[in-house]
Amino acid sequence: MKRSAQDIAAIIEQNRLSWNAVIEAHNSHKGNQGIWLKNGGHTLFPEELMLLGDLEGKSLLHLLCNCGQDTLSLARMGAEVTGVDISDEAIKVARELSQTSQIPAQFFRANVYEWLQQPPYGPFDVVFMSYGVLYWLPDLKSLFKNIRGILNPGGKVVFVDFHPVFWLFDDNWKLAYPYTSAGEDLLDEEGIGDYVGMSGEALVPWGFEEGIKDFNNPQHAHGFLWGMADIIGAMLEAGLQLEVFEEYPYSNGFNPRPDIMHVDADRRCWLPKDMPSIPLMFALRASLGRPIATGLGRP
Ligand SMILES: C[S@@+](CC[C@H](N)C(=O)[O-])C[C@H]1O[C@@H](n2cnc3c(N)ncnc32)[C@H](O)[C@@H]1O
Repeated sequence: MKRSAQDIAAIIEQNRLSWNAVIEAHNSHKGNQGIWLKNGGHTLFPEELMLLGDLEGKSLLHLLCNCGQDTLSLARMGAEVTGVDISDEAIKVARELSQTSQIPAQFFRANVYEWLQQPPYGPFDVVFMSYGVLYWLPDLKSLFKNIRGILNPGGKVVFVDFHPVFWLFDDNWKLAYPYTSAGEDLLDEEGIGDYVGMSGEALVPWGFEEGIKDFNNPQHAHGFLWGMADIIGAMLEAGLQLEVFEEYPYSNGFNPRPDIMHVDADRRCWLPKDMPSIPLMFALRASLGRPIATGLGRP
């Protein structure tokens, strides 16, 4: 059953509470990130860096920026950055990190859908999103339509996320979830977990700390599963033209099964050798084009 606008607002609000509850646990493993950033460290992976290209002097909007580590790293690469995230706790940490690292950035605590409808400034040369974003978004068509509206001529959307195929499986690699939930939400009664604690050094290369152990989130969460046709279709329909699309058989930083997944020196987490290779991550870059009707191939 499709949710009403009111239900969707309640889901987003519940997710805000769940994110707020987990931020302290995540950051308890991350030590002094501000100093790491100040001393020239960054948190970006080669996949996004390659797609982003030269950022010197570019205005960049980072959506669902979490605690801003990537946002500040992008500023380090020369961009003038703006980060948006719904979590009060995440934005608080992001502002503190900006101060400690002395890297200038603007951070907004807002629901991305509301922020994009009335952006306080813009347009932007680059809109960036990465690693665990689509799952939180109830409507891709309006998201990409609004992103298109705030791009400068020649502007780009760069996007790296975990692959829909990755989300098909439960913790034991049993096929457990649909490829797409077609806009319907899935309830996660346990809420957002401490995936930073679980992933260890793969997510905290500057020195993982034990931090908070056995975190239990008191706030449940809701997510959305989107297939590739949902994602690319929504972009094309919004008038974004695909320039690059890649799939990768590894996951950057995120390691849901540290007991069996192998992490290499570049912090890529690989499935065990005896499992068939499947895509765990994808990346794309798009630019302004003409809206294209999609879904015409479906009966
Ligand atoms: C997995 S994190 C993204 C991680 C990010 N790539 C980073 O740099 O660490 C997902 C983020 O999405 C945010 N979020 C979820 N729903 C949102 C919404 N409707 N509007 C804005 N932010 C949202 C959460 O607060 C959370 O910080």
